[in-house]
Amino acid sequence: MEKEPTNLKVDIKNGIGTITLNRPKFLNVFNEETLDEFASILDEIGRNENVKVLVLLSACKKAFTAGADIKQMSAKDREGGKRFAQMGHRIARKLETMPQPVIIGIHGYTLGGGVEFACACDIRIAAEGSVFSQPEIDIGVIPGWGGTQRLSRIVGIAKAKEMIYTGKRIDAHEAMEIGLVNHVVPRENLEDVVMALAETMASKGKHALFNAKRAINQLHESFIEDGLAFEVERWTELFDTYDQKEGMRAFLEGRHPKFEDR
Ligand code: CAA
Repeated sequence: MEKEPTNLKVDIKNGIGTITLNRPKFLNVFNEETLDEFASILDEIGRNENVKVLVLLSACKKAFTAGADIKQMSAKDREGGKRFAQMGHRIARKLETMPQPVIIGIHGYTLGGGVEFACACDIRIAAEGSVFSQPEIDIGVIPGWGGTQRLSRIVGIAKAKEMIYTGKRIDAHEAMEIGLVNHVVPRENLEDVVMALAETMASKGKHALFNAKRAINQLHESFIEDGLAFEVERWTELFDTYDQKEGMRAFLEGRHPKFEDR
C-alpha cells in the first residue's frame, strides 16, 4: 500500500472534535502509520480543554474500516505481531479512557479492528447497510485489539462467541438487536444524527459529562483490575501444590504428568 499524506482528518468546532478515517482507497485499513497518527491525535484531543465530545466518522464510501492491515501483519514474526496487537490496544484504550465521550458513526464494512475500536467508543450509531464482523478466525487468528473482552461485555458472551468462532457477518439491524449499536439510521442521515447527538452532549456541563463517563467505565475498570489480581492469586497458590511441580517436571522430562489432586 502506498503512503498517503493524511490518513485521518481532524476538525474541532463548537466543543466537538471530529476524526474522519481518510484512506478510502484502502478501505480505511489500519496500518502502523495510521495507528501512530491516530494515537497522537487522540492524545491531543484528550488534552484539548475545548473538546467536550469526540466523533469518529469515515470518508470511505464502502467501509468504516476493513480492519487491521493483513499485508503488514502477514510479514510479522511473533514479536512483531505482539507489537502490532499492542498498537491497536493502545488506540482502543485511549478511546475508552479519554475524558471525552466518543460517538462513532458507522457505515459499510466494519470488520475486525473496526468492531474492536467501535466497542471502545461510548455510543455507536450505524447506517442501514452496515456490515459487522470479527473475521479473524478466517485468517487464523483471534481478535487482537480487545474484541474478546469488549465485544463480549457489550453483546454478551454467547453472541460474542458465535461471532468470534464463526467470523460471520451481521447487518446493522442484527447489530442493534444484540446491543452492539445504539441506533440504526438511513445512510444519508448518519452524519446529521451523529452530530445532533454530539451537540446535545456538548451542551451539557463538561465536568458532569466527563465524570459520567469515568463513573460508568469504573464498572469495567474495577472488573478488569479485580480479575487480574484474582488470577495472580489463583496462579500463585498453585505453586504450593504437588501437581504443579509434577506437571512442570514432567514437561521438562518429556513425559505425561501423573496428577494426584494435591
Ligand atoms: N488489510 C489489507 N488489505 C485489505 C484489507 C485488510 N484488512 N481488507 C481489504 N484489503 C484490500 C484487498 O486486499 C484489496 O486490495 P487490492 O485491491 O490491492 O487487491 C482491496 O483492499 C479491496 O478489497 P477486496 O478486493 O477484497 O474488496 P471486496 O469489496 O471484495 O471486499 C472486504 C471487501 C469485505 C472488506 C474484504 O476485502 C475483506 O474481507 N477484507 C478482510 C477484512 C478482514 O479480515 N479484516 C480483519 C483483519 S484483522 C483485524 O482487524 C483485527 C485484529 O485483531 C488485529
